[in-house]
Amino acid sequence: MCGIVGYVGRQKAAPILIEGLKRLEYRGYDSAGLAVLQGPRIEVVKKTGRVDVLAKAAAPRRLAGATGIGHTRWATHGGVTEANAHPHLSSDGSFALVHNGVIENHAAIRRFLAAKGYTFASETDTEALVNLIAYHHAKEPEPAPDTGKSRFLESVRRALMHVEGAYGIAVLCAACPGEIVAARKASPLVLGVGDREHLLASDVAALASRTQNVVYLKDGELLHLTPGRFAIITQDEEDVPPVVDRITWDTAGAELGDHRHFMEKEIFEQPAALENAMRGRFSEDGSTANFGGLNLTPAELRQVGRLVLLGCGTAWHACLVAEHLVERFARLPVEVDYASEFRYRNTPLDRDTLFFVMSQSGETIDTLGALREARRKGFKVLAINNTVGSSIAREADGGIYQHVGPEIGVASTKAFTSQLLLGAIIALYIARMRDMSYNDGLEYVKALKAAPGLVRRVLAQAPRIREIARRHAHYKDMLFLGRLSLFPIALEGALKLKEISYIHAEGYPAAEMKHGPIALVSPECPAVFFAPKGEIFNKLVSSIQEIKARRGRTIVITTEGCELPPGVADELIHLPDCHEAVLPIVATIPVQLLSYYIAVELGCDVDKPRNLAKSVTVE
Ligand code: M6R
Repeated sequence: MCGIVGYVGRQKAAPILIEGLKRLEYRGYDSAGLAVLQGPRIEVVKKTGRVDVLAKAAAPRRLAGATGIGHTRWATHGGVTEANAHPHLSSDGSFALVHNGVIENHAAIRRFLAAKGYTFASETDTEALVNLIAYHHAKEPEPAPDTGKSRFLESVRRALMHVEGAYGIAVLCAACPGEIVAARKASPLVLGVGDREHLLASDVAALASRTQNVVYLKDGELLHLTPGRFAIITQDEEDVPPVVDRITWDTAGAELGDHRHFMEKEIFEQPAALENAMRGRFSEDGSTANFGGLNLTPAELRQVGRLVLLGCGTAWHACLVAEHLVERFARLPVEVDYASEFRYRNTPLDRDTLFFVMSQSGETIDTLGALREARRKGFKVLAINNTVGSSIAREADGGIYQHVGPEIGVASTKAFTSQLLLGAIIALYIARMRDMSYNDGLEYVKALKAAPGLVRRVLAQAPRIREIARRHAHYKDMLFLGRLSLFPIALEGALKLKEISYIHAEGYPAAEMKHGPIALVSPECPAVFFAPKGEIFNKLVSSIQEIKARRGRTIVITTEGCELPPGVADELIHLPDCHEAVLPIVATIPVQLLSYYIAVELGCDVDKPRNLAKSVTVE
């Protein structure tokens, strides 16, 4: 994970780096640091904690240099200490480096360099690399001026030839004023092309306020920057002609506005987010879906015999719901796997399998690795992704953008419900190529179009859900129970609560309770129970009664108009009656609100929960 930034231009670098780091803080917030070239010296400021702490520490240093790099860390190798914070300096102070990723052979590099007299001040893998660059620089002769070659760039290139693992790096050299060298392999890096200035970042969010012109670096590419020029080469020293993309990034989407937390903002944005995600997705006659970017003809899609859906965390939950809907409506077999498991399991696969990966960030390394593995085996992989230009979006054979704008809160909310929606639209699309009738298609589309309004109605219950949250914030354990398409929503509810409030929570299929988890039921372990209207409503009520019989507290989420026996629900939340394809979306809202308000009640750092990062770019 970690976020890296770089600036070379005519302005003071430090404030620009700090601004960029604030935008990247979602990638990690254990510590933050920056390095600026001040004449012939590299000045480093680093602090454990948030970027604000770094900003306060940097202010009195009056850093005036116009070339610098910065980092916000999610600790992998070495604890959360100032010494382990980036940037790291080579032991002679001549190079500074920020790194996102993991250098897997760092121990061997360290041993090699230690034997040559290099010293190390941190426990990080990164420090091995910055010293390796210094080592190669010392060996590298100054190139003849007419070659146009840079000794600095060449030293980084040579060092990287010996590195195993993943990296997005930016490097400063004390002897090279006005220059930055950067490189990537399996960790994202974007160049921003400004007016006589260049910026670097792990994500466009960090540079969108200064430029709209960006170049996405590819794996194995190195970048040499000065204020007026940039050059990209491959590891094999071939020049890469740059492709400059223009981003349309809504910076307002990344602002908090009147909300207390991004998570709150993003929960309440969901009606609009769903509208954006479904815009243009339906055929003119309103009976099926319309996807521009699948890069598969209907005839090719008709030949698909099985879908495999891959994702991690919340996205994996969205895959589980999509599985339910595709099998239910399109009658097509679906398998869901954790991306991290799939890539190493070597599952036997039929030739007519089509893959979908789901990822909000498009940078989750496990999901990217699974995508690459499936493509390596010759399968087509489509992506459902929210981040335009992300690694997954670029490497997939086609896909669907979620179009919900930046999601900043670490706990995924609007990205999740839009993934649920897109899963439902994919189910429709395939169903209409198979057995679903025109009229059923019309009804399905009408139901999906109603989703934003239904979500608004659930959001209107926020004050009541807040009260319920207040009454439950002191519990140490909680169960989330649901069946069929709401079993994954139970998992999602439990994940939301765990990650932002640190309350232990388990999601379970409601009928599985009696096979073990019912042993946990007691007055000290409330159960959030999904019991919507439907064929198995009575069975769900029986399961709730089993909890009540064991003096468990229940928060029941049911459909308006459903009658529950007296005394079954200690707390009741109502969902509007809706189509089966919309139910998971609508049912998600109460558990998002419940988790959010419990976390607020407990005084937790909702948007930046401990130990987490938004984008998980390490295995
Ligand atoms: O960016 P991705 O959708 O690939 O992220 C996958 C998970 O890391 C993510 O959903 C994570 O579980 C969230 N923190 C959940 O709120």
